[in-house]
Amino acid sequence: MTDLIAIHEAELVAACAALKRGEVVGLPTETVYGLAGDARNGEALARIFATKRRPADHPLIVHLADASAIDDWARAIPPAARRLAAAFWPGPLTLILKRAPHVLDLVTAGQDSIGLRVPNHALALELLRRFGGGLAAPSANRFGHVSPTTAQHVRDEFGDAVPIVLDGGPCRIGIESTIVDLSADSARILRPGQIGPDAIARVLGAPVAIGAQTSSPRVSGSLASHYAPDTPAERVPRERLDSVIRSALGGGETIRVLALRHLPDGVHGLVMPNEPEPYARHLYAALRTLDAEGAERLLIELPPDTPEWFAVHDRIARATVAPSDDDAP
Ligand code: TXA
Ligand code: MG
Repeated sequence: MTDLIAIHEAELVAACAALKRGEVVGLPTETVYGLAGDARNGEALARIFATKRRPADHPLIVHLADASAIDDWARAIPPAARRLAAAFWPGPLTLILKRAPHVLDLVTAGQDSIGLRVPNHALALELLRRFGGGLAAPSANRFGHVSPTTAQHVRDEFGDAVPIVLDGGPCRIGIESTIVDLSADSARILRPGQIGPDAIARVLGAPVAIGAQTSSPRVSGSLASHYAPDTPAERVPRERLDSVIRSALGGGETIRVLALRHLPDGVHGLVMPNEPEPYARHLYAALRTLDAEGAERLLIELPPDTPEWFAVHDRIARATVAPSDDDAP
């Protein structure tokens, strides 16, 4: 771990200086890469929104070096937040809490709440410690596009607009953090992630509700279409995959298939791991690879409909539409 930091010393110094100047940098985390800026600097925040082309009504997550910094950013912090932070930070969990008075509206999209997280990545934590403050960091992709899980993905998204990308290697988890809202009376999961409802309920000692409320707070990850490739993508139940492929090829279409166990002969695509965690780790890179091949359609074989695949199903659902002849709601 020390080696990792020594190897990246020059990049860390440059990234820290850029952040102090109000610039944005590509930040590795264990979930996905972030586009980081000083959470107390309005110009830096405006740059994040402009670079991502993200609408201003989508709040940002503030990344912290450790859990003790919660008190600098939130108020009226419930014991449940301390328990979840102690159990899962550093790690892929974002807590939504009532915001502290000084927090800029650009961070919260004008809401009374703030998203906070301590990422579990040695380079991110080192940068946070050296910077000495909170870093607002949405996923480092153009708004609505597939999140990045390598430094090269960030460069592909933004090119020269983001000259400094700390290269922390491929993200270990590969999908965004679980978001738990603790700003209201009862806990609610707003975005599923690797830390599942059962693990959260166990720490809270109570069941946790799932799903964004229809009004506020706004969660861009809860938009029906998000994390989406440019190629029109469809999710296909396992038992229908062969027939959907056959009719697409029969109609002369070029397709790419993200399959779970095997690809039929002569069909182009990728075979994904048949376990949820490695699947999640590779999902966005796989979508980007197949997207770049410029096919007319992308078909994604749906994983089993079991709880451990919950977060993966969520991301696949947002990257795709159901097949046109699928009469599921
Ligand atoms: O894993 C992650 O969370 C990654 C890495 C970079 O940390 N970040 C990430 O950020 O996914 P972003 O901006 O792509 O997604 C953050 C989500 C958005 O859907 C946003 O609406 C929601 O968090 N969010 C942030 N602050 C919130 C708040 N106060 N209330 C409700 N939702 C909030
Ligand atoms: Mg995002």
